[in-house]
Amino acid sequence: MAKVFFKTDNVTHEVEDGTPLMDFCEELDVSLSFGCTEGTCGVCEVTVIKGRENLSRITEEEKDYLLEEDLEDGMRLGCQVKIRKGDITLKWKKVKG
Ligand code: FES
Repeated sequence: MAKVFFKTDNVTHEVEDGTPLMDFCEELDVSLSFGCTEGTCGVCEVTVIKGRENLSRITEEEKDYLLEEDLEDGMRLGCQVKIRKGDITLKWKKVKG
């Protein structure tokens, strides 16, 4: 099992290793939003504060969409991320409305 801490909403959730982030965000009441789900709109941008190594590898879509320095700062596209294992902490900008 892996443990994800959604810092923005102060919610912690345990999931099976290998679960896509998007799969359980909808069920949980977290404010992270998704749009295209294909890595092209950027609505799902998250910053990985802890546990970058516990997530799936950066996809081509993320390399296309995000800037090099954003990737270095731990930014990811939530729709592209799978939880691999261990502890992970995420935050994101809350969108109003
Ligand atoms: S939902 Fe569009 S980039 Fe992730």
